[in-house]
Amino acid sequence: MAKAPKVLRTVPSLRQALARTRKAGGKIALVPTMGALHRGHLAMVAEEKQRTHMVVVSIFVNPTQFAPNEDFDSYPRTFKKDIAALSEAKVDFVWAPTPAVMYPEGFVTRLVPKGAALAGLEDKFRPHFFGGVATVVAKLFTQTQPDFALFGQKDYQQLRVVTQMAKDLDLGVKVVGIPTVREKDGLALSSRNVYLSVAERAAAPALYRVLKASAARIKRAEPIAMVMEEGAHEITRAGFAVDYLEARHALTLAPVVTRKDGPIRLLVAAKIGKTRLIDNLAV
Ligand code: PAJ
Repeated sequence: MAKAPKVLRTVPSLRQALARTRKAGGKIALVPTMGALHRGHLAMVAEEKQRTHMVVVSIFVNPTQFAPNEDFDSYPRTFKKDIAALSEAKVDFVWAPTPAVMYPEGFVTRLVPKGAALAGLEDKFRPHFFGGVATVVAKLFTQTQPDFALFGQKDYQQLRVVTQMAKDLDLGVKVVGIPTVREKDGLALSSRNVYLSVAERAAAPALYRVLKASAARIKRAEPIAMVMEEGAHEITRAGFAVDYLEARHALTLAPVVTRKDGPIRLLVAAKIGKTRLIDNLAV
């Protein structure tokens, strides 16, 4: 059996464990997660192992990024299974603070990101979300002080927000975006896919199918607004309620009108049954 990673539960024990690596001149890579690990998370670990960096995976279901009506209580928690997968992946350390360690009694500070965090995409439907993400990720960065931090392009707006936050706060962490890992039929891997019924799972690849077809049409210079409107209809026909399907500037996430407005990213969020899925694709 592969050697289990060392699980750290307090900030001093984390700092002590990493001090040795740092002293020996080793580079540290952090992969922040909320657990319920799948191949998407593990692809980020594999990327860093290849570079022979010391890998810390954090597992913390962060209460401050969930609104009261969201799935914090029911969010899948599979710690034992996660540790087994991380042993196989030869991860060195798991940073798994309890909520009381992350947010001790009296904790009152919260970051308020703007820019990409107010693009009118996820923030419009989850106004709570990016303040909670920015705050916990800033804490994860200062607790771990990694050289690199890996985030999935799957959560594209989050990747933009976290990249800017690390820069704005001079945290000295290089944020790296990793391509989305998908099922064979195109569905982006997500911890929330376990919520899908058989019929919903069968319909779910419509998101990626529409993103791909829309990107191809925009490349052929078809009008963006029309392509987005028709794409949203197709997603609706597949059984989703669409929150948004939008073409945005890939870096600022500002709206774009034509292809000349910059590198374009298509972003989608839609609900099927009780499950909300997101995805995105470069044009
Ligand atoms: P979580 O949803 O667990 O995702 C952890 C990381 O895995 C994120 O960077 C996410 O973009 C990446 N990821 C998820 N699915 C992926 C896929 N199919 N392919 C590639 N990467 C994928 O995102 C969060 O947790 C939280 O908001 C967090 C950043 C940990 C802060 O609490």
